Amino acid sequence: MTAEAALATSPHPAARRTDAEWWRQAAVYQIYPRSFADADGNGIGDLKGVADRVPYLRELGIDAVWLSPFYPSALADGGYDVDDYRDVDPKIGTLADFDAMAEALHAAGIKLIVDIVPNHTSDRHEWFKEALASPKGSPERDRYIFRDGLGPDGAQPPSDWTSGFGGPAWEPVGDGQWYHHFFAREQPDLNWRNPEVREDFLKTLRFWSDRGVDGFRVDVAHGLSKDLPEELPTQAELDAIPVDGNHPVWDRDDVHEIYAEWRQVFDEYDPPRIAVAEAWVASDRRPAYASPRGLGQAFNFDLLGARFDAAQFREIVAFNLELAARSGSSSTWVLSNHDVVRHATRYGLPPEPAEPREDGSLPAESDATQKTGTSWLLHRGREPELKAERGLRRARAATLFELALPGSAYIYQGEELGLHEVADIADEDRQDPTFFRSPGVSVGRDGCRVPLPWSAGGESLGFGGSAHIPQPEWFAEHSVEREDGDPDSTLSLYRRALALRGELRTEERLEWLETGDPQVLAFRRPNGWVNVTNFGEGPFPLPEPLRGEVLVGSVALEEEGTLPGEASVWLKA
Ligand code: BGC
Repeated sequence: MTAEAALATSPHPAARRTDAEWWRQAAVYQIYPRSFADADGNGIGDLKGVADRVPYLRELGIDAVWLSPFYPSALADGGYDVDDYRDVDPKIGTLADFDAMAEALHAAGIKLIVDIVPNHTSDRHEWFKEALASPKGSPERDRYIFRDGLGPDGAQPPSDWTSGFGGPAWEPVGDGQWYHHFFAREQPDLNWRNPEVREDFLKTLRFWSDRGVDGFRVDVAHGLSKDLPEELPTQAELDAIPVDGNHPVWDRDDVHEIYAEWRQVFDEYDPPRIAVAEAWVASDRRPAYASPRGLGQAFNFDLLGARFDAAQFREIVAFNLELAARSGSSSTWVLSNHDVVRHATRYGLPPEPAEPREDGSLPAESDATQKTGTSWLLHRGREPELKAERGLRRARAATLFELALPGSAYIYQGEELGLHEVADIADEDRQDPTFFRSPGVSVGRDGCRVPLPWSAGGESLGFGGSAHIPQPEWFAEHSVEREDGDPDSTLSLYRRALALRGELRTEERLEWLETGDPQVLAFRRPNGWVNVTNFGEGPFPLPEPLRGEVLVGSVALEEEGTLPGEASVWLKA
């Protein structure tokens, strides 16, 4: 069969997997709704904008959408500061718009996963307002983590703990008490030892499941359970406590009791609702989150943290397939999301020098990124170092490699257009709290959250009203309009690979093939197709067993049987 014929006969996503296991090898497209498409023209993307673009999503060939928070929010942290878990932000729609969007997605055969943010509410949530209006020791305060300040009048914070976004992790409320927030001040941490908190989230899970959502992405899944001792350790002492299940704050074993309760709710539905944990934990602790008795799947961010390097990629893939099998789950693969520098840009920058610890030693990458992944933020002054074309070339290759793997692949909006991070956002246009809380260090995450370019001209390049983060001129080159009919565009590459991917999803297995070159990886999937990826700069003449009809390539083969440098290809070998 020719590549064209294979494309034509590959079933459309709508026809694939309607069973309970649909998530195992799904291609999931992350929508950051406020920057996707703005139907009402107020400059902020909305749910109607998503519904209007369902034909685009269908043509892209994805199986599911993961919708980042769309709840009422003051946007102190891009919507991860939730005022009400069972409503829609009036700036971006209504519950009726949500239902219409879900219906349109489902009619196109696309599942819907929503983000749920259980570690913290916003400071505008009813509960937090009640906590502030209630006295110390009240049941209202017990839903959060309040502590007395130190000193005779409680004017000093209970400890020197710092927030993951920079600055202190305690905020005073004016009566000698302070509340804990690992993220921004506007995101008070919930107390998951409080039964009312637990009950209320079960209600929220049912609320959205009843409206037909297919699953949940669980924000900061490793942080819910906290067990703070009466006498708080210092930040340095806290950091020195092993994260082995008994740490006061992170990745405690008892967090899984919460997810066992959630699983009972998921299983009330047919098919059961699914969940994927965002848990920045040591790899060997990931299977607990991915257990079928818990959330069922967990993000594996290892590729996202790797350089464009054959040895690293191979080791990560082999290890994670084994790890996922251990929990009975399937692996997830992620190259970009709304929290990190886009992969086209990462691969075009020289590796970032690790920041030394206070004692001068260098931290392991996993230590630095374990909690929030903030080490992948763009640091000021790096823009001139970017080799944009090379970054995109590598990104296209890495994506083809990723989409050929067994497991589910997460695609972040705009990567299918080959977008780079927008580095030159004016300070006054920045929104991310990490920028404001770590002044002068990182520029924050706004650079990957700039509204999408749909057309090559016009106001906000077809996004809608005046874009809430300004788009640079070069966005026009990457617009859907420009890329749509161009067979060499990144959009065409994604469409083609995603359409073919249906054929790959027979079993969750791969077999590594010898290439004789440490810079080149090759693996075969159970349907016989082979992926060959050249991480080196020079061309790689494909040896006989790796020759065959090209199904899709990140670049064209230079001449018969030679794979150019920094390129990837799927072959029917
Ligand atoms: C989300 C971030 C968010 C943080 C706090 C993360 O893991 O992905 O975007 O800022 O949680 O909710």
